[in-house]
Amino acid sequence: MQQLDFRARPPSALPVPFFALGLAGLLAVPIAAVIDPAVALHDHPAAAGVLFLHLITLGFLAPVMLGAYYQLIPVVLHAPMPCPALGRWILAALAAGVLVFLAGWGVRFPDAIAAGGTLAGLALYAFIAQVGAALARLRRPTLPAAGFAGALLALAAVSLLGPLMALGFVTRALLVAHVSAALAGWLLLTILGATYQLVPFFAATPPAIGPRFGYGPIALVAAGTLLLAFGAGPVGGAAALLGVVLWAADMARLAGHGRQARREPVARYTALAIALLVLAAAGAEADLLGAAIPVRVLALAGLLSAPALLVMAQLQKILPFLAALEARGVKTEQLFSRQTADRVLPVAALGFLGLAAASTLASQIGVRAAAIVAAAAVVAYLAIQGRALRRFLSSAK
Ligand code: HEM
Repeated sequence: MQQLDFRARPPSALPVPFFALGLAGLLAVPIAAVIDPAVALHDHPAAAGVLFLHLITLGFLAPVMLGAYYQLIPVVLHAPMPCPALGRWILAALAAGVLVFLAGWGVRFPDAIAAGGTLAGLALYAFIAQVGAALARLRRPTLPAAGFAGALLALAAVSLLGPLMALGFVTRALLVAHVSAALAGWLLLTILGATYQLVPFFAATPPAIGPRFGYGPIALVAAGTLLLAFGAGPVGGAAALLGVVLWAADMARLAGHGRQARREPVARYTALAIALLVLAAAGAEADLLGAAIPVRVLALAGLLSAPALLVMAQLQKILPFLAALEARGVKTEQLFSRQTADRVLPVAALGFLGLAAASTLASQIGVRAAAIVAAAAVVAYLAIQGRALRRFLSSAK
C-alpha cells in the first residue's frame, strides 16, 4: 500500500462542512421516522419510501462520502484537488437540491421533485468533474484509485438516471440501473477503495501483510454492478456478493495482523459494519433469487446502520488524529475523550439495528421506539464531538 501523506490534506474548511451536513442528515433520518413511522415502512412506488431512502442516501451518505473524497484523494493518492473553492458551491447546490427534492416527495409536488433532483444531479456532476480531474493525473493504478474511479463512473450513472426519473421518465429498466449503480457501484466501490488503505493504517498492520485477493474484490463488484444494471440480476448479484465476501476476508486479515488492540470500540464497530454490509449483499442476492426482501430492509441495514456505525466509530479515531496534526503540543487524546464517545456507540447500534428490525416486522411502534434511541445517540455523539472540537479550538489558539 502507498504511504498516507497527511501534509497533502486539504484545509479543514473543504471537507468539514460536508461532514457536518452529512451528520445533520443522519440525525434527520430517525427524526423523520419518529414524526411519521410510515416513511420506514414503505418501498417504491410509495412516495414515503422514496423520500426516506433518499433522505438516507442524499441527506446523510452523499455529503459524508463527498467530504471523505476531498480528504482521501490528496492523502491516499497524493493527487492535489483542483479548484478547492468549487467545493463550497457544490455543497450549497447539493444541499438546496436535496432539500427541494425531498420536500417535493413530502408534499407530492412533481415540479419540486424535478427541479430539486436536477439541481442535486448537477452538483454531483460538478463533483465528478473535479475529482475525475484529480484522478486523471495519477501515473500508476492502485487498489484505492481503482475503487474510487469505478465509484465515480457509477455516480455519473446514478446522477444521470436519478434526475431523468425525477423529470418523469420512470421505467423499470432505468430504476434497476439507477439502484444497481447507486448501491453496488457508488457506495460499495467507495467503501472498498477507502478501507483497503484506512483499515491497515489505523490497525497498524505491518507493510509486509497485504490483501490476499488483490484487485479481485473491486473487479468482481464492478462487474457485478454492470451486470445488475443491465438486468442480469442473480448473476450480477452473485459476482458483487463474492467481491464483498473476499473484501471482508481481506479486511479481517489486514486488521487481524495489526498491532492495534483489536478490542478497541473502533475496531469492533468497523467489524460490525463490515458484517452488516456482507449481510445486506447476501440479502440482496436472496431477493434477486426470489425471496422478495423489501428494499427498505436492505437499505436500513446496508445503507444506514453499516455506514452510520462505520462513520461514527472511525471519526472518533480520525478527529483527534487530524487535530493532533494541526496543533502540536495540545494533548488531543485528552480533549477528545474516547471513553465518553465509546458509550454512545452501543446505543447507536441498538437504535439503527432496531430500526431495521422494526421495519422488517412492519411495526410502527417499534420504528418509533428505535428511531428515538437512534436520534438520542446521534444527538449525544454530536454534542460530545462538538464540545471536544470547541475545547480543541480554544486551546490551540
Ligand atoms: C441526483 C440524485 C438522485 C435523484 C434525482 C434520484 C431520483 C430517484 C427517483 C426519481 C427514483 C424513483 C422513484 C420512482 O419510482 O418514481 C429513485 C429510486 C431510487 N434511488 Fe435515487 N436518486 C438520486 C440519487 C440516489 C443515490 C445517491 C442513491 C443511493 C446511494 C439512490 C438510491 C435509490 C434507490 C435504492 C431507489 C429505489 C427506491 C425504492 O425502490 O423504494 N438514489 N431515485
